[in-house]
Amino acid sequence: TEQLTGKHFLTLKDFTADEIHYLLDLAADLKAKKKSGTPHHYMKGQNIALLFEKPSTRTRCAFTVACIDLGAHPEYLGKNDIQFGKKESVRDTAIVLGRMFDGIQFRGFDQETVNGLAENSGVPVWNGLTNEFHPTQILADLLTIKEHIGHLKGVKFVYVGDGRNNMGNSLLIGCAKVGMDVRICSPEVLFPDEDVVRYAEEVAKDSGANITITSDIDEAVSGAEVIYTDVWVSMGEEDKFKERIDLLYPYQVNKAMLEKTGNQDNVMFLHCLPSFHDLETEVGRDIHEKFGLKEMEVTDEVFQSKNSFVFDEAENRLHTIKAVMAATNGNETS
Ligand code: CP
Ligand code: NVA
Repeated sequence: TEQLTGKHFLTLKDFTADEIHYLLDLAADLKAKKKSGTPHHYMKGQNIALLFEKPSTRTRCAFTVACIDLGAHPEYLGKNDIQFGKKESVRDTAIVLGRMFDGIQFRGFDQETVNGLAENSGVPVWNGLTNEFHPTQILADLLTIKEHIGHLKGVKFVYVGDGRNNMGNSLLIGCAKVGMDVRICSPEVLFPDEDVVRYAEEVAKDSGANITITSDIDEAVSGAEVIYTDVWVSMGEEDKFKERIDLLYPYQVNKAMLEKTGNQDNVMFLHCLPSFHDLETEVGRDIHEKFGLKEMEVTDEVFQSKNSFVFDEAENRLHTIKAVMAATNGNETS
């Protein structure tokens, strides 16, 4: 509604549980409109800059298609296409883009950069992933859980793997806000950022969330309704494959882990993607040769199983990103 108009979307810390639920309901409504062919040109005539320092399939495509469905024009600006980052500062780039565009999406390395764009551009800025946070992804994850389980409060949610990356941090915040039973399961050196854990614990006092940070897999997955994992090596840390494989191999999501939940028939498997569930890719083949692995954070068996909702989740990136843009920059939302 109106209270989100003009707001940036930089991290879920800036949004209340009610606002998150509002965005999820709007996304569900926009999804229904898309499926029924009902027009929803809430950003008619706008121009939107999509700024990328890192590659992307889902986020780029979701922002692009969402812009067009909303009646806006998307413009993709890769890091190597513009002066930004080489000859021109974040501040000057923000001011120039803000003079020409009605909104800016940024994906890249530092949270500081997306914050800097927000401070200087004068138009809404949306975070499409930084090293620290990936907030639009969490909305798609929550929508997918809501669609299949029917509610969010109290849902036993386990994130297993690299707890210290953008996904670990953002899931902890988002799941805490909506009152879930969230368990982050990682080796201790990969526990989420301490500030984020403290923040989530504070939020949990109000939301009724339960927060567990543990390296114990049996404790974490017991009774799980959702198991979520992400790659062991994120964009920008490609020198860490050996170290992460050694640390995280026991945390692989496989059939044995699903069985440990005691809920193997119903537990949902989620992953933000892209995923190394098989190593039939350029990077995958390289890892296979160097480390002798066949699969990494999730087995192909689980990825392809009836427990897996990863492609519903990927599609929901479109509807949730559309909701974020419509709510913060649309003329109307119904
Ligand atoms: N999940 C996600 O953000 O995917 P992309 O890197 O393809 O955008
Ligand atoms: N943690 C991953 C998420 C990709 C969507 C990365 O940052 O590469």
